[in-house]
Amino acid sequence: MSELDDNLTALATRFDTALAAAENERALDDVRVAFLGRSGEVTAVRRGIGALPPAERPAAGKVINAAVESMEGKLAAALTRLESAEIEKSLADSIDVTYPGTPARIGTIHPVRLVLAEIARYFTRHGFAVVLGPEIETDANNFDALNIPPDHPAREGHDSFYLRPDLVLRTHTSPMQVRAMRENGPPIAIIVPGKCYRRDAVDARHLYQFHQVEGLLVGPGVHFGHLKGMLAGMCRAVFGAQQRVRFRPSFFPFTEPSAEVDVSCPGCNGAGCRTCSGSGWIEIGGSGMVHPSVLRNVGYDPDAVTGWAFGCGLERLAMKRYDMNDIRDFVENAPPFLEQLN
Ligand code: DAH
Repeated sequence: MSELDDNLTALATRFDTALAAAENERALDDVRVAFLGRSGEVTAVRRGIGALPPAERPAAGKVINAAVESMEGKLAAALTRLESAEIEKSLADSIDVTYPGTPARIGTIHPVRLVLAEIARYFTRHGFAVVLGPEIETDANNFDALNIPPDHPAREGHDSFYLRPDLVLRTHTSPMQVRAMRENGPPIAIIVPGKCYRRDAVDARHLYQFHQVEGLLVGPGVHFGHLKGMLAGMCRAVFGAQQRVRFRPSFFPFTEPSAEVDVSCPGCNGAGCRTCSGSGWIEIGGSGMVHPSVLRNVGYDPDAVTGWAFGCGLERLAMKRYDMNDIRDFVENAPPFLEQLN
């Protein structure tokens, strides 16, 4: 009997050592098979019972069963420990879907676009169509058809990028008046936003690439009062109901009479400051009644229809709208500047 006890004690020690070394479920199972399996160590000990006197056998069986029970209990506890450790580990590796993500940086609408959108909304509400023209224009459309012959001094004010002797990067959106009238109407009511190019030195008020919006209304009985009403309305749509507008007599080869359009200065509200060079007004574009020669050039009859036109610099409008004093801010792509306006 004491030999059996010694055997079981040694076996229990070996079992504990093997169990402590088992690092995963598979190793645990190997321990179970080695000690409690059909040809494992416990089976070998049981076999020894047969050699005992019959009277000692039941007690020996009980001692062995108790040892087996203890080993099974330790195995079950070790398995539970391993499983929960594995769950802990997988939780640590997984993604926390509730964690706030890194916000994607998305763009904002460019201030020139914002102003254009307001102008387009105003004119489309009044029945005008928005049309686009090519940035590469024929010399003939950009100048000649607009009553600006080759020797005309007005060409000097439009320092141009020529691609060929007969092709130019348009210096204004006005040539689209010619294209639109040749293709449609009368009557015609359009605005034409787009890029224009002039060989100007870049400074706080000039870029060699900028935007204009052109307006054109031609039909029977159209007069200067319509022009004043629409342009004043446009300025109020962009700058607010209090905005004052003035028309100053001027000259453009493709309009007669012609007027420059000024809006009251935001810096001083008309009193005179540095932004407006002391005048109280800021010029935003030119306008006038379409010259009869332009109407004839596109095949319209100046005795049957009349029209008005205007052309405004969009950067000029946006600078006033957002109280800016350097036009270069529009093209320097600095997010802190661009994002503040949206
Ligand atoms: N195209 C002129 C410029 O860029 C602006 C202009 C003046 C447009 C009078 C017009 C107009 O349509 O009628 O300087």
